[in-house]
Amino acid sequence: MTQNNEKTNDAPTKRRRNRRPRHSNRPKELPEIFFCGDPHGEFEQINEAVRLHKPAAVVILGDLQPPAPVEELLEEALALTDVWWIPGNHDTDTDEFYDRLWRGPLASHNLHGRIANIAGLRIGGLGGVFRGQVWMPDGTPNYFCPATFIRRVGTGNVWRGGLPRRHRSTIFPSVYQNLMRQRADVLVTHEAAGCHRKGFVAIDRLAKALNVKWHFHGHQHEDRVYGQHQNVTVRAVGYRGVVNLKGEVVIPAQMDPREAAALQTAIDWANRTAETALIEVRDPKTGAMCVLPPSEATTPSMLAAAAAASAKLLAYPSGDVTPREREEALGREVAKQAPGGRFKPWTSPKPKSEGKAAPKDEGAKEPCASRGRRESARSKAKARRAEAGNAVKNDAKRNVREEAKRDAKCARSANAGNAPATPTAAPAEGAVKPAPSRNAPGGKTRRPRRRKGRGKPKE
Ligand SMILES: [Fe+2]
Repeated sequence: MTQNNEKTNDAPTKRRRNRRPRHSNRPKELPEIFFCGDPHGEFEQINEAVRLHKPAAVVILGDLQPPAPVEELLEEALALTDVWWIPGNHDTDTDEFYDRLWRGPLASHNLHGRIANIAGLRIGGLGGVFRGQVWMPDGTPNYFCPATFIRRVGTGNVWRGGLPRRHRSTIFPSVYQNLMRQRADVLVTHEAAGCHRKGFVAIDRLAKALNVKWHFHGHQHEDRVYGQHQNVTVRAVGYRGVVNLKGEVVIPAQMDPREAAALQTAIDWANRTAETALIEVRDPKTGAMCVLPPSEATTPSMLAAAAAASAKLLAYPSGDVTPREREEALGREVAKQAPGGRFKPWTSPKPKSEGKAAPKDEGAKEPCASRGRRESARSKAKARRAEAGNAVKNDAKRNVREEAKRDAKCARSANAGNAPATPTAAPAEGAVKPAPSRNAPGGKTRRPRRRKGRGKPKE
């Protein structure tokens, strides 16, 4: 009664009706648990983190791909702490990877599809990836559980009496729904959360159903701090990186080799674009010439194109052009023969004349359409000039004939007793004046142009 009275007296001041229930089993001080991004065959960073900080547990977020037995690779870490893991999509690439993980000493520490109490925290795991052959979230699953898959596929697809090895890292709806009915403090997945551009909202729903406070994922090889996402602290652990439960970096992540290769290719391409000059390389053994950018070797197809271009370059007279023109011509030859090359065919200049350099073929540098128009205009002007020259010649001939006629006429009149008429004398009165030549200077008479469809013009 005394206790009831005390409760009654304290009731107005200590009402906790709307407060959320506290997690009584969650430790007040967070344990030191490390989460390791995709190791992809390299485990030294995990051993180093454990050696330096001695955490309570280590959880590997998939894609281990152990090149040797795991107990040998993680010997130092296993001696100091517990090592847990979830499978990644690459852990079923080979039989060796599968056996070292699923049939090794760490097989019992596989967190896929279950909740485990690790250092006082309930950690739930969902390894593997979504595959469309089985189920993509928010779609109708083709197979609900592994047993359904085995029943429907042929016996040729069965591996070791069960699921094909590849689908042993596939998320089945049955595993996902089984997790949805449980509770946990931390969720570890290989697939990314919905806040990642390649993530899944289904992972967010699982985190919400589990009522977790932290979510760590791997797979994307990106070290990202998302912050709070739907009341869950989401953290992406990068390639071979190690972080603790607070999301603090213990071992910095490395750059994904694929991204590093793509970045290096982009840098090389930028350098190659900036440096227009190409270098010629002669094989000391075979003597074959090859053209390469100064930075690095090119692809095999470019090598073939460069070798072919070098043959033409060697035939090109080196004394005719400047080095820059020579390099440009060489670049055009390489690009023309390379896949996707768009340079127009390059024509070699005419052979050098005696004691004089061959003139540059400027027409070859111009676009074909403008060159055609210019040649057409030139030919028309030439025709007009030729026509005018012919007209002058014809007028001269005509004048000579008329003078010869007048001389002959004067000679006849002299023989007949009339006064001789000099060619330069003015014509006699009544004589018929010759019509002026149409083409003679000052004697042009333009005939009216006839219009189509209107008959002859009126005089
Ligand atoms: Fe990976």
